[in-house]
Amino acid sequence: MSETEPIHQALREQRQPLRFDIFTLFPEMLAGPFDASILKRAAAAGLIEIQIHQIRDWTHDRYRTVDDRPYGGGAGMIMMAPPITEAVESVLGSDLASARTLIMSPSGIRFTQDMASSLAGAQRIAIVCGHYEGFDERISSILLAEEVSIGDYVLTGGEIPAMVIIDAVARLAPGVISVQSIAEESHDKGLVEHPQYTRPVEFRGLTVPEVLLSGHHQQVREWRRAAAIAKQAKRDEKESGHS
Ligand code: ADE
Repeated sequence: MSETEPIHQALREQRQPLRFDIFTLFPEMLAGPFDASILKRAAAAGLIEIQIHQIRDWTHDRYRTVDDRPYGGGAGMIMMAPPITEAVESVLGSDLASARTLIMSPSGIRFTQDMASSLAGAQRIAIVCGHYEGFDERISSILLAEEVSIGDYVLTGGEIPAMVIIDAVARLAPGVISVQSIAEESHDKGLVEHPQYTRPVEFRGLTVPEVLLSGHHQQVREWRRAAAIAKQAKRDEKESGHS
C-alpha cells in the first residue's frame, strides 16, 4: 500500500479538515511548500486546510506599522501587540478558545514529535510568524498562545519554522498517511528508525544484510531492533561530541 492511500478512504468519510491559519508579514514565503506532494493531496482531499494571512491587514495607520522600539531600550524592533492580536482574534472568531495558537520564537519550548502528535489532535491551529527581535509579551498573554522553537538556532523569521511544524503535524492528521507508516517511524519509542535497504542487493561492493533477504520475519524484527539501537547509540555519541 502506498503511504498516501488512506487519503482516498478519508475522502469518502467526509471528515472536518484540520485547519491551519498562518499569520505572517511575508505570505509569498509560504506560497510554494504546501502546493506539492502529500500536503497538496491532503488539502485536495479535504483533510487539511491552510490559510495564510497578512498581519499588515490589521494595522490602522497609513504606514501599516507592525513593529516598534522596545521600551527600556535595546537593539532591534519588537512586533507590536495590536495588529497580531486583532488578526488572530478576527480570523479565529469563536474558535479562538478551542484552537491552539503558536508563536514562532527561538526562545519558545522545543518542538518535538510528541508535540506534533498532540497538535494533530486539534481542530484548528493558528501560527504567528515574527520577524525582528521578538514579540510584545502581551500577545501571548491575551491569545493564550504557546511560544514554540524548532531548535536552538536563530532564523531570520518564523515562516520556515511554521512550515516545519505544519508539515510534521499535517502528516499525522487522520487519513493523511497510513497508520502503519506512523507506527513504524523514527522518534516514536525514543529510538531512531532501523536502517532500510531496497534493490539492488549489491551496490558498489556494499551488500544488503543477509537476514533481510531470508524471509524469517522474527529474525528480521530482531535484526532491525538491534540495528536501531546501534544507530541510536552512534547518533548519541556524535551529538555529544558537538555540544
Ligand atoms: N524564529 C527565529 N528562529 C526560530 C526558531 N529556531 N524557532 C522558531 N521560530 C524562530
